[in-house]
Amino acid sequence: MQNLLYALIQSLHNINAAVIAGIAAAALWQPDLRSKLATWVAVAWALQGLTGLSFGITTYAYERHLPDIHGIAVLALGIKVLCVVAGLTLALFYRKANLSEKQQVLVWRILLALGLVALASAAFLRWYS
Ligand code: HEM
Repeated sequence: MQNLLYALIQSLHNINAAVIAGIAAAALWQPDLRSKLATWVAVAWALQGLTGLSFGITTYAYERHLPDIHGIAVLALGIKVLCVVAGLTLALFYRKANLSEKQQVLVWRILLALGLVALASAAFLRWYS
């Protein structure tokens, strides 16, 4: 059952990681869709944080301790958490702010970069834990 839960969480987490990068890339090519995409990318960043957290909750529920990770794995996880905080904050800010075309492109580029940095960090978390 524990493995099934991990697999289901990871399916959501992996697909949503692709969605985060995909939405940011789409917004750079489709200016007309940007305000709708900003809402969706905010939801996707929040979901990514929740599914990420669910890995730890599942381990704790079954084993009464948090995942035992050290060094580079902790650093990679920290980077991922920072990406979620920055990505969600930026997406929410984008929805409220009245930005020029240049500023919009900058924000979407940063959102795309945050998604890619988090994806790269996931590889380090995977192989150093
Ligand atoms: C609060 C933030 C996050 C937490 C707590 C978190 C946590 C985790 C955990 C525990 C794993 C399993 C690691 C393993 O298999 O050893 C994982 C895998 C993964 N995470 Fe995250 N994550 C977060 C954010 C993100 C973000 C923002 C992305 C990308 C946009 C991302 C992409 C991935 C991917 C692709 C994997 C699968 C790696 C693999 O098995 O090769 N994560 N994450």
